[in-house]
Amino acid sequence: MTVVVLGGAGYIGSHTVDRLIEKGYDVAVIDNLITGHRAAVNPKARFYQGDIHDRAFLDEVFNKETNVEGVIHFAAFSIVPESMKDPLKYFDNNTGGMITLLKAMRDHDIKRIIFSSTAATYGEPKQIPIKETDPQIPTNPYGESKLCMEKIIHWSDLAYGIKFVALRYFNVAGAKADGSIGEDHHPETHLIPIILQVAAGERTGLKIFGTDYPTKDGTNVRDYVHVVDLADAHILALEYLKAGNDSNAFNLGSSTGFSNKEILEAAREATGQPIPAEDAPRRAGDPSTLIAASDKARKVLGWKPQYDDVKEIIKTAWNWKQTHPKGYNDRGEA
Ligand SMILES: NC(=O)c1ccc[n+]([C@@H]2O[C@H](COP(=O)([O-])OP(=O)(O)OC[C@H]3O[C@@H](n4cnc5c(N)ncnc54)[C@H](O)[C@@H]3O)[C@@H](O)[C@H]2O)c1
Repeated sequence: MTVVVLGGAGYIGSHTVDRLIEKGYDVAVIDNLITGHRAAVNPKARFYQGDIHDRAFLDEVFNKETNVEGVIHFAAFSIVPESMKDPLKYFDNNTGGMITLLKAMRDHDIKRIIFSSTAATYGEPKQIPIKETDPQIPTNPYGESKLCMEKIIHWSDLAYGIKFVALRYFNVAGAKADGSIGEDHHPETHLIPIILQVAAGERTGLKIFGTDYPTKDGTNVRDYVHVVDLADAHILALEYLKAGNDSNAFNLGSSTGFSNKEILEAAREATGQPIPAEDAPRRAGDPSTLIAASDKARKVLGWKPQYDDVKEIIKTAWNWKQTHPKGYNDRGEA
């Protein structure tokens, strides 16, 4: 049986492909490499380069991969400010791509999908920690495109029996412990890799946006989960569906909030670098605090994250950064 990973050349997808292979699964990857890296894909996975909008391409892949037990779907755009400027790009790639994929799954009789959703589907939280049953009212087109995808899968489940698990991630960070794969986004918009760019001397300093939030030190508080722990949750979710359980949605986070200043301090300790930083005004649309209630994933999926210390998460990202200062470019990729 084969697991097809869409977006398997991206940051989270490549770590999930790697974990699947380590655990003995047969894996095929679909990716158009728009933000992903061919060199990030474990060589034991079969690789198909193409776009999930391309129905003829998907048919070709699913005609070759005839024994698919499920798909894991990471293929999407995910930069919030870009989605505000160009919402149709997001609805087209994310939501539109999902429709083509589900039609192909329906026609090739593939009945399980694990889907990368996001905390951005909740919008400004009404309570902390955020529960799966809380209202989903996105405040940007990226979150809205992902919420639409959750709804489309729900109706496809009712009509065609395609079972799904929607995994709503909070902040994802870190890299495989041996430093062989890691995060390489262009542009980089996530806090930890940006801090590490400062530590490596690629940026002059860090800007901390907003120091007057109602939090412990006035800076934004976020919940960080290690990418390998996140990858493992996808495999548990697939096994959950294979065991005959019904469709479901789970938050994936560490349930512990760290302020931006705490992350900065942890990064200074983890890297031994001074990491200059300055205070800057708030950015529009940044919620004060985002922390997941992730007890449901722990209880129902049996998820046990291995990394509970944010400094250890940062150390793995720093190891990747030091061994690959130019990311996958170090392997000759443009
Ligand atoms: N990184 C985070 O902190 C975070 C948080 C919440 C949710 N997510 C979600 O997780 C998923 C993966 O995130 P990531 O950080 O690994 O992103 P990424 O950009 O590194 O990976 C996405 C992958 O999908 C591929 N792709 C995009 N559109 C495609 C298409 N139309 N056809 C084929 N391939 C396509 C890209 O080339 C890339 O390899 C995204 O869907 C994102 O919304 C990420």
